[in-house]
Amino acid sequence: MKKIRKAVFPVAGLGSRFLPATKAQPKEMLPIVDKPLIQYAVEEAVAAGITDLIFITGRNKRAIEDHFDTAYELEAELDAAGKTKLLEVVRSAVPKGINCIYIRQSAPLGLGHAVLCARPVVGDEPFAVLLADDFMDVQPGEKPVLAQMTDVFAREGNSLLAVQDVPRAETRQYGIVSVTPDKPDAARVRGIVEKPAPEDAPSTLAVVGRYVLSNRIFDYLEVLGKGAGGEIQLTDGIAALLDAEPVLAYRYMGTRYDCGSKLGYLKATVAMGQKHPELGAAFSEYLRTVK
Ligand code: UTP
Repeated sequence: MKKIRKAVFPVAGLGSRFLPATKAQPKEMLPIVDKPLIQYAVEEAVAAGITDLIFITGRNKRAIEDHFDTAYELEAELDAAGKTKLLEVVRSAVPKGINCIYIRQSAPLGLGHAVLCARPVVGDEPFAVLLADDFMDVQPGEKPVLAQMTDVFAREGNSLLAVQDVPRAETRQYGIVSVTPDKPDAARVRGIVEKPAPEDAPSTLAVVGRYVLSNRIFDYLEVLGKGAGGEIQLTDGIAALLDAEPVLAYRYMGTRYDCGSKLGYLKATVAMGQKHPELGAAFSEYLRTVK
């Protein structure tokens, strides 16, 4: 069984729902309290044993590259001022012993196209995909979501999609799967469709932004045309993969916040604000006073 060593982070979307905040920076750099979304996703990947981080970047890529690089001047100044705690915070953003690889997606043609851009680096291995705007929180003692998935992959050896139940009225926002309910945590996917209308959705089981994929997906993405919304859809590539090999739906343990939407982002901020080691108590106290 091949170990999952590589993770793809598609960060080249337009982030139009967050304009003007995303005019000159990727939405993945928006912070939840004090840490950018992309750093949470990178930490989740590293916790799952990933060693190669492949960022599919677009316009305004610099902030992400800089974030995962040495900040020479800042570090020198913090060091000179004896601010050792902050220095550690800045340095620890750069994962030790981890390779950061950047590939440019020349135009935002869709998530499927973004993932395809990683092909030359992923090669013939299975790999993970993390969408940083799906922010995944877990309870203390629970494994981060991608680590849960790599455990299941080690057992089953098949592609895996993280799924959760959503209200039927919201199926238009997701890829929706139909499954054979065999193993409770790894049900076989029978079909998948991108953004179906509620009346057409085969179920209410929605794919969220964590995937472990067989590299065979690239063969299908390569030949795909435009799908829903005029974009090259990862969902359509997965639909084609289904005919060739098993794909499993994994009901993850944890809470997902859709930080691609303003409401989800605010909810994540409130949740993480209350858990924050320095200001959690004061923030929770403040929330009790809010009418
Ligand atoms: P979304 O559709 O949620 O992101 O894509 P978006 O396009 O940035 O946001 P809105 O809808 O305009 O507000 C899901 C993920 O796929 C990436 C995005 O960065 C996001 O993480 N993506 C999407 C790409 O990397 N390239 C694309 O061409 C499209």
